[in-house]
Amino acid sequence: VETQIAEISDGIYRLSTCIGNGAEAFGFNQFLIKADEPLLFHCGHLAMFPTVSKAAEKILPLDKLRWISFGHFEGDECGSLNSWLSVAPHAVVRHSSVACMTSLNDFSQRQPVPFAVGEVLDLGGKRVRQIETPHFTHAWESQLIFEETTQTLFCADLGAHGGNGPAAITSDIVGPATAMEDHFRSSSLTPTTASTIRDLAALSPATLALMHGSSFSGDCKHQLLGLAEYYQNAFNAACKTKAQ
Ligand SMILES: [Fe+2]
Ligand SMILES: [Fe+2]
Repeated sequence: VETQIAEISDGIYRLSTCIGNGAEAFGFNQFLIKADEPLLFHCGHLAMFPTVSKAAEKILPLDKLRWISFGHFEGDECGSLNSWLSVAPHAVVRHSSVACMTSLNDFSQRQPVPFAVGEVLDLGGKRVRQIETPHFTHAWESQLIFEETTQTLFCADLGAHGGNGPAAITSDIVGPATAMEDHFRSSSLTPTTASTIRDLAALSPATLALMHGSSFSGDCKHQLLGLAEYYQNAFNAACKTKAQ
């Protein structure tokens, strides 16, 4: 298994490791934001650290990594967090205060620093805004980030789809993403799921950096509103079933 590298926005690199073949193929992506103070979003599984870190090293020396963040506390998001901290002595873990309180103060070998809600982190040349999204797509501590200079939204599991497609596409992701959600039901379906996605659509991102599947460039607002409609319908249907 080899990690593929692609620049999906100016200075934003997707590190992608695909397991399985054909219809069973499924990719795990990390994103490296190159800046004066580089930031890694998603660490990847512990078992994938050798191949992912080898790829990251082709973009920048690992000891230059300054910030590490991710969507929520889960193996593919942060299983290798402590391995990254070992090779990047200046790296600081940033996450929601809930993530720090519930898991990271215990799990991280270096003390994490909580984000203030909506805090903007100036990386020098790039600017990352934290977006707190409790229980979205799953887990209380969840957050996303938005890189303001390239208008790139880092979606974690939102829009996840399978296959081993190109690094970036301009074709529809709503179809493949909702087919995957129909199958796995990985999202927490709450009264605020659809409105959270509509709030993300209001950012009008230029690129959606997805943890699983191809990144999307183009009319991201349209794609996000399509996903919001899917989750709104799913929530309404679940409420109706419960009421019967
Ligand atoms: Fe997840
Ligand atoms: Fe994931």
